[in-house]
Amino acid sequence: VDVDPSAYEHGLEDGESRMYAEMLEQPAAVERALRGRLDDRFGTAHLGGLNLDARELRAIRRVKMLGCGSAYYVGQMGAALVEELARIPADAEAASEFRYRDPVIEPDTLYVAVSQSGETIDTLLAVEEIRRKGGRVIGLVNVVGSAIARACDGGIYLHAGPEIAVASTKALTNMYVAFALLALQLGRVRDLSIADGKRLVNALQELPAKLEQVLKLEDEIAEIAADLAQCDSMFFVGRVRGYPVAREGAQKLKEISYRHAEAYQTSELKHGPLALISPEVPTVAIVPDDELTERNVAALHEIAARGGPLVVVTHDGVDLGALDVRRIDVPRLERELDPILLTIPLQLLAFHAAESLGLDIDKPRNLAKSVTVE
Ligand code: G6P
Repeated sequence: VDVDPSAYEHGLEDGESRMYAEMLEQPAAVERALRGRLDDRFGTAHLGGLNLDARELRAIRRVKMLGCGSAYYVGQMGAALVEELARIPADAEAASEFRYRDPVIEPDTLYVAVSQSGETIDTLLAVEEIRRKGGRVIGLVNVVGSAIARACDGGIYLHAGPEIAVASTKALTNMYVAFALLALQLGRVRDLSIADGKRLVNALQELPAKLEQVLKLEDEIAEIAADLAQCDSMFFVGRVRGYPVAREGAQKLKEISYRHAEAYQTSELKHGPLALISPEVPTVAIVPDDELTERNVAALHEIAARGGPLVVVTHDGVDLGALDVRRIDVPRLERELDPILLTIPLQLLAFHAAESLGLDIDKPRNLAKSVTVE
């Protein structure tokens, strides 16, 4: 697929990577995803394409996200949002595995297929399997009229604009935004208060400006990235909200810089991988300012005690004690939206690691933008 460079809002300079242009477009892409969908007055979202009325939304007992690669990881972030805001049990599963385990399809579960291209065969076949068994599926899809969009009962278009680089950035961010809107709407027909709804509406409105701020951290992140690019292997760790962020960060680094990066729950380090920590194996830790900060910092001490170099993606003001770390501070918003702001530095990290190695960032070896065969 090739797209006219003028499709990018700020054009594409000679030789500029598409992934780079797409990363910079994220604030504008988020604005498009939000346009006309937020309701200040009632602190909710309006997603007309869901084709579900309030009564049907209230009848949902479980939400299951299905996607591949980055769409799967953002599905995990989305499940946390739905569970937190709407208090509906929610989880995410790799669409590529789902239908092979002969899943039980429940009529009061809302299935959500997540896909930038709308053409990923594993996700499409999962949708068809669910529909064959009478389940209801909505799509979070970027490409209008794509196979997955057509196969679903309804959905939320991402409005990210064309995404060409194999490594997904702006589409992934808009997937997150779409999940926030879905969680808000599901929450507000249940027990989410109008005050909390308004708090989230305001936070979503502020998100584009916050994304601009994170993108400005580029120079400091580039320096860290060049050093990480020299290491053969590293860990990305996070807990709860931070864990899918770590998974996505490790994925991006693997995809475009060909360094080995393994994501782990910070809490699980002591059950195995700590054995691998050494001065040659750095760890990128996601440490937001939340109820787990103290525990996260304790784990950083465990890593430091074994000589493991640390890069910490955190919020300003978080006290990391006397640890010798390289920190990347992202701006605060509302806790529920932390994951997306914590993800952006990891995109920049992967991009600059690959760039420092002189690699072809937009077309990484062995990978395709959308995988349309099994
Ligand atoms: C491929 C790409 C990944 C992408 C995944 C899902 O494997 O290399 O970057 O996350 O497909 O693509 P989709 O279009 O379904 O979001």
